[in-house]
Formats: sequence, C-alpha cells, structure tokens
Amino acid sequence: MDLRPIGVFDSGLGGLTCVKRVMELMPGEDIIYLGDTGRVPYGGKSRETILRYARQDIGFLLSRDVKAVVAACGTVSTNGLEEIAGDYPVPVFGVTDATARAAVSATRNGRIGLIGTKASIRAAVYDRKILALCPEAKIFKKACPLFVPIVEDGRIGDGEPVLELVARQYLEEMGDDGVDTLILGCTHYPLIAGTIGRIMGPEVRLIDTGAEAAAQLRRLLENGGALARREKGAYSYFVTDSAEDFSRTATIFLGCRVEGAVRRVSLEEK
Ligand code: DGL
Repeated sequence: MDLRPIGVFDSGLGGLTCVKRVMELMPGEDIIYLGDTGRVPYGGKSRETILRYARQDIGFLLSRDVKAVVAACGTVSTNGLEEIAGDYPVPVFGVTDATARAAVSATRNGRIGLIGTKASIRAAVYDRKILALCPEAKIFKKACPLFVPIVEDGRIGDGEPVLELVARQYLEEMGDDGVDTLILGCTHYPLIAGTIGRIMGPEVRLIDTGAEAAAQLRRLLENGGALARREKGAYSYFVTDSAEDFSRTATIFLGCRVEGAVRRVSLEEK
C-alpha cells in the first residue's frame, strides 16, 4: 500500500470530472488537484506552449510527493504528454489509451466520433490509437472550441440557449456521419453530456475520458499494490487564479461541495 496522494491536473475545472470518478472508485486515496485556471484554455495554444505548461503542472504535483499523475486534460494528453511521461519517477498518463480502448469496445458499426479542443483534434493521437486497435474503424472529428468557455462560465443546463445553438452547429453534421460512439475528447464535456446526448440521439454512446482515465488509474494502483485502503482520503486543490471563483464553480463539476483547502499558486517559475 502506498499512502502518498494522487496528482490530477487540468487547464481549468474540467479535470474535476475525472476527480469525481477517482473519489467514487478509490475513496481511500488522498487527491491533489491542480487547475491552471489562470491560463485556461490550453486548447487554442501551440503544442510547444501546451507541453511547457504540462511540464510545469507535473512539476508542481511532483513537488507535493504524489505517487501518480493523471493529466485529466484531453489537450495535454494529445499534445506530447507521452513523449515526456517517461522523464518522471512516478507513472504519468493522460486520457487517450483508456478512452481509445473504451470507444473501440463500445462501437458496433466502427464509426466513432471525436469532439475536442482545436489542439486535440489537430493532434490526431486518437486516430492512431483507435486504428491500431481496430484498423477498419472510421473516425469523424470536430473541434468544438466554444464548449470550454461555455462550461467554465457555468452555462451547462440542458436547454441553455447559447449552449443549444453552439452544440447544434457543432454536432448536427456529425449525426449525419452515422457515428454510434462519440468520444467527449475534453474533460469539460461531461458537464454538457445531457445536451450532447440529446442532439446526437439515444443510440449514440458517449465516452467520458476522465472516467476512463480514473478506471485506468485504479487498475494501475491495484496491480502495483499501491491502492490506499484507508476509509476516506483527504483532498486539496490548487489553482493559478482566484480560489474563490474556483470553489464556487467546482461544486458543479464535483456534484458536491468542495471539501478541503483551495489555494492559489504560481507555476511560472517552476
Ligand atoms: N479540459 C481540457 C481538455 O480536456 C480543457 C481544454 C482547454 O483548456 O482548452 O482539453
């Protein structure tokens, strides 16, 4: 058993959808969450910038003595994370492996949709991973850059006019492609899964990348004998912008009150 905390990070609040699953699947784990709220969104930035931010995020979590780091961010996961993951003394992984496997096992007709930030769609990492598992699969992709600001602004209710308009613009054409599985390629999107699912139709399965990464983490810790088996873990949150704003919105993402301290940190010099 390894009682060190798990580190989870994202550009902003989206990674909390992964944290929620970690809490459910591994209640005994301590969790340290880092949301780079001062620099969100990452999704429109260059690969070099995303990778530099990712190094700083990982470096911060390692300074808190974590036993594993989950990049609960589709953008980081698809923009070079795997090239740097081996540089660290603890397992560091993103959402793409577990998600590609889940999508391939969910699809019946081999037509898989992927929505994400501009940087995630540009990267083509999912294409490579899905085709390695299922060479006959067809992948249909769409960058949805407006979803992250809409979610960060809390406009997530099903029927919310701005969300409805934007979601229809993005998704209707993907419905015509006949996909039966849709990867929510950004960890912010589970918050608007109700609207996405309604527009796509009930026959389309939605894959939640943060949930898949949490399940992968549980397998990893269990197989390595590192799962913390205490009754309840402790949580702490770090952000790079206002801690008050974070606490308010984080409640929506976690589906419960933020338990544990929220502190502001600066990553620039790390
Ligand atoms: N949650 C991040 C992702 O999965 C947010 C994207 C962003 O910062 O643009 O891609």
